[in-house]
Amino acid sequence: PETIVVQELANRMAERAADVVKSLMKMGLMVSMNEPIDADTAELVIEEFGHKAVRVSDSDVEQVIDKVQDADEDLVPRPPIVTIMGHVDHGKTSLLDAIRKTSVVSGEAGGITQHIGAYQVTTDSGAVLTFLDTPGHAAFTSMRARGAQVTDIVVLVVAADDAVMPQTVEAIAHARAAKVPMIVAINKCDKPSANPQKVRTGLLQHEVVVEQMGGEVLDVEVSALTGKGLDLLLESIALQAEILDLRANPKRAAAGAVIEAKLDVGRGPVATVLIEHGTLRKGDIFVVGAQWGKVRALINDKGQRVDEAGPSVPVEVLGLNGTPEAGDVLNVVETEAQAREIADYRDQVIRDKRAAAGAATTMEQLMAKA
Ligand code: GTP
Ligand code: MG
Repeated sequence: PETIVVQELANRMAERAADVVKSLMKMGLMVSMNEPIDADTAELVIEEFGHKAVRVSDSDVEQVIDKVQDADEDLVPRPPIVTIMGHVDHGKTSLLDAIRKTSVVSGEAGGITQHIGAYQVTTDSGAVLTFLDTPGHAAFTSMRARGAQVTDIVVLVVAADDAVMPQTVEAIAHARAAKVPMIVAINKCDKPSANPQKVRTGLLQHEVVVEQMGGEVLDVEVSALTGKGLDLLLESIALQAEILDLRANPKRAAAGAVIEAKLDVGRGPVATVLIEHGTLRKGDIFVVGAQWGKVRALINDKGQRVDEAGPSVPVEVLGLNGTPEAGDVLNVVETEAQAREIADYRDQVIRDKRAAAGAATTMEQLMAKA
C-alpha cells in the first residue's frame, strides 16, 4: 500500500510536522512524525489543511510510455525511426550529412558527434524517414527499458577500408536486443583501399549474413563522400519500413522520448523530443523526467516553428521549467497541478536515491576504516 511519512507530508504541504501530528491525533491516530501513514489518511489530512491532494502512481515515477491498446481505426502509418550506428569514424555523421545534403560534420568540434541529432528526410519515391545520429548507445538502452520505441531500423555503418570493429559488434548486439531489423551500409567505397567483401565476411563471423552472402540482411555499398549508393540505401530503408507496417495513433495525448536537452542562453531549457504517439501541440502541458512545462513553441528539424508534431516527428520543445535528461519520457497531462506534482515527486525520488547512495558510500567508507 502507498504510504507517506508524516514529516514528508508536512514538508510537501509546507506545514509544521507537529501540527500534522496534532491533526492526526484529532482523527484518533497516534503517530510520530517519523512514522508513515497510508495514502487515504494522508488525503484527509491534506484536505483538513485546506490543500488539494494529487495522487501520483508508480508509472508517474518510472517514466513509461503507456502502451494503451489503440483501436485499429485510430492507427495511421508513421515514418520509421532509423538509427545510424557503427564504429567510431566509420562515417555515421558523414553519411547522414550526405543524406541531408547539408553540412553537420564541418561544424562539429573535432569531427566527433557531440549530441544526438534527429532529422527527417523524404526519399525520391516520397517515403518519409526519421533519422537519429547517435554517439552512444546508453541513452537508447535506457529509453528502450522505459518502453520508448526509439529505433525501428538500425543502419549499421561499416567502413570498407577498415573492418568489423568493437563498436560494430556492439551495434549488432544492440539491434538484436531491440529486435529491430538491420541494414548494412558499407561506407567509404570510394577509397582505393576499400574492400567491401572483407566487411561481409567479417559480419558473417558475427552471424550477420548479408544478401550478397546468401543471407537476408540488406547490404548496400555507399560512399558518403561521392554520394554513391545513397539512393539505394534510402530505398532499402523505405522498403524495410513498408514490411514493418509501422503505425501510431496521432489522436492521443502526446508521449515521446528526449533525444537531447540543453539550457540555451536565449531560449531557456530546450529539449529535442521524438514523438512516439499522439500529437504535441502549442499550449500542451507536460511532464518530462523531473521537469514539467507548457509548450511555448515547437521547432522542427529545419529550424521552422510548427504548431504541432505527430508520431515519429523529432521536434524541439520550448517552455520547460528545467532541463530534462536524454532518455527522459515526455507525457502530456491535463493540468498544471498534475504536471507540477508528478515532476516534484520524481525530483524527490531522485533526491532520495542520491541521498541513499550517499549514505551507502559513507557506510562503506566506515566499514573500510573499521
Ligand atoms: P564519430 O561520430 O566520431 O563516431 O564518427 P562518425 O562515424 O560519425 O564518422 P564521421 O562521419 O565523422 O567520419 C569520419 C571520417 O571519415 C571523416 O574524416 C570523414 O570525412 C571520413 N569519411 C566519412 N565517410 C567517408 C566516405 O564515404 N569516403 C571517404 N573517403 N571518407 C569518408
Ligand atoms: Mg559522428
